[in-house]
Amino acid sequence: MKYLITGGAGFIGSHLSDALVARGDSVVVLDNFTTGNKENLSGVVNSVSVVSGDILDSALVTKLVGECDFVVHLAAALGVFNIVNKPLESLTTNLKGTEIVLEAAAKFNTPILVASTSEIYGKNNKVPLNEEDDRIIGHPLKSRWSYSEAKAVDESLAYFYFQEKGLPTRLVRFFNTVGPRQVGHYGMVVPRFVSAAVSGDALSVYGSGEQIRCFCHVSDAVRALLLVMDSDKAIGEVFNVGNNQQISIMDLAKKVISVTGSSSSIEMLSYEKAYPAGFEDMERRVPDISKIERVLGWKPQIGLEQIIKDIAAHNAGRAHK
Ligand SMILES: NC(=O)c1ccc[n+]([C@@H]2O[C@H](COP(=O)([O-])OP(=O)(O)OC[C@H]3O[C@@H](n4cnc5c(N)ncnc54)[C@H](O)[C@@H]3O)[C@@H](O)[C@H]2O)c1
Repeated sequence: MKYLITGGAGFIGSHLSDALVARGDSVVVLDNFTTGNKENLSGVVNSVSVVSGDILDSALVTKLVGECDFVVHLAAALGVFNIVNKPLESLTTNLKGTEIVLEAAAKFNTPILVASTSEIYGKNNKVPLNEEDDRIIGHPLKSRWSYSEAKAVDESLAYFYFQEKGLPTRLVRFFNTVGPRQVGHYGMVVPRFVSAAVSGDALSVYGSGEQIRCFCHVSDAVRALLLVMDSDKAIGEVFNVGNNQQISIMDLAKKVISVTGSSSSIEMLSYEKAYPAGFEDMERRVPDISKIERVLGWKPQIGLEQIIKDIAAHNAGRAHK
């Protein structure tokens, strides 16, 4: 099989590229390297064809989709700081970009998986959140919510392409996915804490630190992606993908310090200081993953301690290069 991965030089996409190459598939990556990096594909550089370009380039996307058997659409503008600081660019990439990729897939009736996010649930604090739960969204003029809005429209678009045109679409809603190669400077908490702990800097906990989150190792997430991509049972469906082990951000900071053997301190930073004015966050975000377990037999296998160790080891490896 020949797979086109949009955003394939990014964090999840590069791990998926590794997994597809390892099982003998061929991979074409389309990426504009805004948050992705060619170095992420260094292990498969001879097996993956990397196209530097934008998903907003409809002619290029159509050409590449026409040459492939399956599309995995991961390209997106993401990271809290990108979304809040460049709302227009983020919204355009996430809305128009997905529309272009879906239009191209529909032209050739090429099966497609579209990546979505737990952010679509917005401020819904229900624990755990299942695929049928409602969205509770803030004000549309707050850039904070534009990512949630765009990804929700992406889901609808993908689903209605399936329903009205019979395009074999699949949707995956990632909850916090973490691991080696993820970068911290766009607002991802685990890589930010690990880098600070390893360098002996203070770990900045935003807000009260009582927010509850769950973290899924990227290799577990890639295993889920492959199951969704390979199974006809996933066509026209949406699946939550995440780990349901809960931890507060304060306890996460303490755990990162203990697992890395760091002497770093923890400092508290108010949301007002950490984010632009008017930022809102969710208190809890816990996935219900019973659907993907029931339909495809997937469960996460890797815990937080191993995640922290893997990120620290990866960073140490890069520092020695
Ligand atoms: N990592 C997570 O915790 C998480 C959670 C929820 C959803 N997701 C979704 O998973 C997907 C992959 O995320 P990731 O964590 O690997 O992030 P990432 O930033 O590492 O990957 C996104 C990739 O898309 C590329 N890209 C951005 N705009 C582009 C454009 N206009 N044209 C071509 N390429 C472009 C970036 O350069 C990057 O390589 C995204 O759709 C994201 O919304 C991720």
